[in-house]
Amino acid sequence: MYIRVLITSLLVAAGVSAPAASAAVTPGDGLALTPPMGFNNWNSTHCRADFNEAMIKGIADIFVSKGLKDAGYQYVNLDDCWALPQRGPDGSLVPDPVRFPNGIKHVADYVHSKGLKFGIYTSAGTKTCNSAGFPGGLGFEQQDANLFASWGVDYLKYDNCNNQGVDARLRYTTMRDALRRTGRPIVFSICEWGQNKPWEWAADVGHLWRTTGDISDNYSSMLNIAKRNWELADYAGPGHWNDPDMLEVGNGGMTDTEYRSHFGLWAIMAAPLLIGADLRKVSPATFDILGNREVIAVDQDPLGVQGKLTKSVGGLHVLVKPLRNGDKAVLLFNEGETTGQIATSAAELGLPRAPAYRLRDLWVHTDSHTAGTISATLPPHGSAMFRVSMDRSWAQYPPAVHAGASIETVYPGALPIVTPGTTTTVTTSITNNGRAPALFASSTLSAPSGWTVRADSPTSAVVLRTDQSFTTKWTVGVPAGLAPGTYVLQGQASYRPDVTLPYTLEVVVPGAPPSGTSFASDVKWLRVTNGFGPVELDRSNGERRAGDGNVITINGVQYAKGLGTHAPGVVEYYVAGRCTAVTADVGLDDEKGNNGTATFEIWADGQKVADSGVLTNLMPAKPLRADITGATLVRLISTDAGDGNNSDHTDWADARLICG
Ligand code: GLA
Repeated sequence: MYIRVLITSLLVAAGVSAPAASAAVTPGDGLALTPPMGFNNWNSTHCRADFNEAMIKGIADIFVSKGLKDAGYQYVNLDDCWALPQRGPDGSLVPDPVRFPNGIKHVADYVHSKGLKFGIYTSAGTKTCNSAGFPGGLGFEQQDANLFASWGVDYLKYDNCNNQGVDARLRYTTMRDALRRTGRPIVFSICEWGQNKPWEWAADVGHLWRTTGDISDNYSSMLNIAKRNWELADYAGPGHWNDPDMLEVGNGGMTDTEYRSHFGLWAIMAAPLLIGADLRKVSPATFDILGNREVIAVDQDPLGVQGKLTKSVGGLHVLVKPLRNGDKAVLLFNEGETTGQIATSAAELGLPRAPAYRLRDLWVHTDSHTAGTISATLPPHGSAMFRVSMDRSWAQYPPAVHAGASIETVYPGALPIVTPGTTTTVTTSITNNGRAPALFASSTLSAPSGWTVRADSPTSAVVLRTDQSFTTKWTVGVPAGLAPGTYVLQGQASYRPDVTLPYTLEVVVPGAPPSGTSFASDVKWLRVTNGFGPVELDRSNGERRAGDGNVITINGVQYAKGLGTHAPGVVEYYVAGRCTAVTADVGLDDEKGNNGTATFEIWADGQKVADSGVLTNLMPAKPLRADITGATLVRLISTDAGDGNNSDHTDWADARLICG
């Protein structure tokens, strides 16, 4: 089956009205009425030596010089490893004299001198989390709280390690009371990783609580945390926030597209915005993301409602956050690996009926109006964020137009493959979501040098009315001998009055298909996803690093060749119609005892051509053979059989591709 995939586009954007001043009833002690914003060193330094006085002062300086303080960032917080491993003779915590030669009060005073606030860290246990064993606060709550207050601490992150099995509610309530008794207003951050469902009991204990384990600087960690945190929207509010952990924006493990999604997700979820990158070293793009005041305004909106998921279709999500002045913030997010299109509407957002609405694009910073549809074509892991307003003056903004380029893919969600030495058809489209007509709408398309591009149908339309689309077909010549890799086609839509919308289309040149009969583990795959760790070649799946598995073994039978995957897994090969069959002995690896259950499937393009049914660890390997004659792409898929993927070490033993 062939489907059309639209590739990148944008909606024209719209303006923000300033939120009305807060008239909310002050909950609790009046602290953290909006999610705390600031910095914490952990994600960038962990316990390394560059966590020291110079860093903390440098961050405070940058908060001021780069306008982050003015954008709302306030707290400059220390994480673990600021203290010596032993308490002093009087039982007091002692700052590490190498990292903080002038003590902690000196650093706090410096931060305060910049008009900022200062935070510190310890654990609700006998020791903190770092293996060096720094002293924790359990049993020392009042003494430590008094010391922190005497230093001028404004924020305490209180961790969960080495807690001796003492009830979490008791441990955190004891510290809350100790902090209160100091008389100093101190924001209290509960960091027990969601283990005891703090959202159910901590609204009057802490001002924020971690909902998950630690974030790390990669897309799948960020995504998993976001998805768990957005389920908890109902529990958040002024003075008591869900905390999906500190930001990784700027640490280098994600693309800027992914970091924009990370930041937008945190903002729509009214999450604390604690910068986790060493701002002395980051790129201008990082400052653009972290300093985006329109996105920050969504996070900090005084209504204090966490945005909710209102729609999810095939990994494309819509999250909506109501704002104090009646506007709605909307995040359209593509979690998946292929470009996708998602739409919502003013009615779905809960806005009253109106002829049109003002639409503000919070990343592109432009205004438009929509008759109701809010849509975008999003690249893999990408997002678009809007503020939608009732506005009787909507007609002063141009119509919101959705534009993009697409090619046919082999099945829905397949990579957009092109073959060197052939031509491919690209379609560009422009859709008017506005109430007013878009006039003289036109599309362009260009390709890297050496490629050819020819329009096969008109490239412009005189008028596009509400919900009307206009498409252009293009023949694109892919040069012979092109190296495998990703190539980018670019274009733009333009229309009156004076609007242009850029779009891009990424296409993939695959490597050469296999010939003869080969072991799958000797053929380069096109792409892969895996439940845990990398897919292993001729080894079972060890869940972490490449090569950490064992000899593939199913029910006592060992195999020298095969793929060690972990459900849910997909290993995809480009076979270009050259292969006739796939064979394998499939089963769950003996290394997990009798715990796993899984299914094994083989797909030829968009069709399932073999299915093992549910296999368990107790069963012998099952021979699978699939006819894949004529297929362009073949996928070896393992599923968790519907019961979670714990212990699902799915071996494709002796897997072979049989080709001409
Ligand atoms: C735990 C916390 C982290 C960090 C480290 C410090 O893992 O969840 O955020 O504070 O401890 O050791």
